Amino acid sequence: MESKVKFVTVAAEELFNFVVRCAERAGAKKPHAESLAELLVAADTRGHFSHGLNRLEMYVRDLQTETTSSENEPKVMKETVGTALVDGCNVLGPVVGKFCIDLAIKKAKQTGVGWVCATGSNHFGIAGWYSIRAANEGLLGMAFTNTSPLMVPTRAQKPALGTNPISVAAPANNDSFVLDMATTTVALGKIEINKRKDMEIPEGWGVDGEGQVTKNPDAVLSDGGLLPLGGTEENGGYKGYGLALMVEVFCGILAGANYGPNIRSWKSTSTAANLGQCFVALDPSAFAPGFTDRMSDIMTTLRNMTPVQGQPSVMIPGDPERKHEEKCASLGGIPYHPNQIEFAIRLADKLEIEQMKIKK
Ligand SMILES: NC(=O)c1ccc[n+]([C@@H]2O[C@H](COP(=O)([O-])OP(=O)(O)OC[C@H]3O[C@@H](n4cnc5c(N)ncnc54)[C@H](O)[C@@H]3O)[C@@H](O)[C@H]2O)c1
Repeated sequence: MESKVKFVTVAAEELFNFVVRCAERAGAKKPHAESLAELLVAADTRGHFSHGLNRLEMYVRDLQTETTSSENEPKVMKETVGTALVDGCNVLGPVVGKFCIDLAIKKAKQTGVGWVCATGSNHFGIAGWYSIRAANEGLLGMAFTNTSPLMVPTRAQKPALGTNPISVAAPANNDSFVLDMATTTVALGKIEINKRKDMEIPEGWGVDGEGQVTKNPDAVLSDGGLLPLGGTEENGGYKGYGLALMVEVFCGILAGANYGPNIRSWKSTSTAANLGQCFVALDPSAFAPGFTDRMSDIMTTLRNMTPVQGQPSVMIPGDPERKHEEKCASLGGIPYHPNQIEFAIRLADKLEIEQMKIKK
């Protein structure tokens, strides 16, 4: 059924300035506020609304309660030509992430590869924002983060790992492959949306407090958890569980940050998050020549495959987000559900700052 909701449009620049106003009011330095704004604009423009404006209040709250530092700057603790260990010094996740991926890019340009791990970090938003930064420089980029425990490992009853996202971006000729995904079947936000709509969730998204698969969103949200990518053991969920643990190896374990069930619970502000993150850049010219030509070739082959009857064309990871970016460009801004704007109005009132202007 066609939705009757009238979406409203906000220009990207307006959203950027609004996020900067909010973050600065909450205590962030201007450059930190701007990094956060760049990240949130990118998330919403790419269509990942759960990680854009929707998350602003969380960053503001962490700054206001000083569980995230507004004073410090990330610093390199240990370094080789191709690696670095960075202490994020508990500043905003996007500030730490940008520092680390830019360092990885610098190393990849000098030596072929840069592998940088961060300890003492915070929620860094969409993982793709970092890997794309490397792809824009002609490099392969990767980004990973551990997160608060929400995933119930295969055969367990309780959550012990996060939604631990993976992003890998690779440049092609005027094109790119951008895989950017959580290692749970769905993000927590999707369960919350079903609850709000009073709808059951499909089997395979989550479990109740005893680790039993449930279709009841309340049972997942109250004391249950998310299933790993793939769902139940029969459906290969143990592979998603394995990928989440791989992310944890690259992040909390390698960096010496909090890991697994030791990470503070989701939305807790009682202690610093001390997340572990990992950023990699790799120069394809260190390998066989013609990388971008072969990338473009395989992407064209896949996109041109005949789809199942009644289905739209085959896509490459990164295509859905590209389509959303094109939609935003044609609208001259980002289309929001009115509820999200209501929330932004409330936040502006609470912080006593100028409201975000709506285009139409
Ligand atoms: N920082 C954190 O704590 C955290 C945790 C979890 C997720 N995230 C972020 O949340 C965002 C959403 O994650 P998600 O797992 O819900 O993403 P998703 O399921 O919407 O998409 C995952 C990937 O699949 C691709 N894709 C989607 N449909 C496709 C199709 N038909 N054919 C080919 N490829 C297709 C997308 O381009 C994307 O690369 C990501 O940006 C992720 O980094 C962040």
